[in-house]
Amino acid sequence: MDWGMKNRMSKIIRPEDGRCLMLAVDHGYFLGPTEGLEIPSRTIKPLLPYADSLMITRGILRTSVNPSIEVPIVLRVSGGTSIVGEDLSNETISTSIEEAIKLNASCLAISIFVGSKYEHQTLASLSRLVDEGEKYGIPVLAVTAVGKEMTRDSRYLALACRVAAEQGAHIVKTYYCENFESVVEGCPVPLIVAGGKKLPNEIDALKLTYEAIEHGATGVDMGRNIWQSTYAVAMIKSVRSIVHSNLDLRQASELYMKEKERQIKEQQKEMKAAG
Ligand code: 5RP
Repeated sequence: MDWGMKNRMSKIIRPEDGRCLMLAVDHGYFLGPTEGLEIPSRTIKPLLPYADSLMITRGILRTSVNPSIEVPIVLRVSGGTSIVGEDLSNETISTSIEEAIKLNASCLAISIFVGSKYEHQTLASLSRLVDEGEKYGIPVLAVTAVGKEMTRDSRYLALACRVAAEQGAHIVKTYYCENFESVVEGCPVPLIVAGGKKLPNEIDALKLTYEAIEHGATGVDMGRNIWQSTYAVAMIKSVRSIVHSNLDLRQASELYMKEKERQIKEQQKEMKAAG
């Protein structure tokens, strides 16, 4: 691996512990102004101090993030479909490598839809993107997107993750599942897990994080389970404590409750001050 590639990888996966907390805020690229991300700048700002990296599209980066931030950018460069369109898997590369370089991206993110109608197209795009990334020393994160009709079991996810790694992805994002070890075992590059749809309560999302790390994930690429929580800062701090401080589920849950209380008190103070 060349110096530039190693340097960028070390910004995404922290060299101190080999772990990563990626904050995902790219959902609008197909979902529009989704709940919790209606005004991206408002959502992102308080969470940034606790994120190792920010996964985002160029449009929201340019309009909603202060360019003086130090948090490295994982630029989503695939798209071309929306939730109201015909087929979400019909994605293509939507942002050029020149744009990614101009935006000082530390990593490029692209979705692949293994087993879908557009499997070939999305895998060919991944390969092309890896070629470009290798040229300029920018790692590629392959996002294993699961269509509505696919089962998120270890057999399918192991297949999708391995295919991504074989095409040269430097990091793969997938979902946590039963027998997750077999997914990790079959994938020779770091695996990070998405949170997925908001779980009924915050402790469930902490459990998911804890179990994923316990079973070999390098970290998380988490969005909705953080910023759709009423106590988003408490949530990201608690996820961080599992990823980077090896807190177990009980300790992380206690931290969440403590931080939640603190946030409530701060909000009450602010309301009082505002009259
Ligand atoms: C959207 C994505 C998200 O970045 C990824 O799924 C993580 O977010 P969440 O934790 O909300 O699932 O790839 O297409």
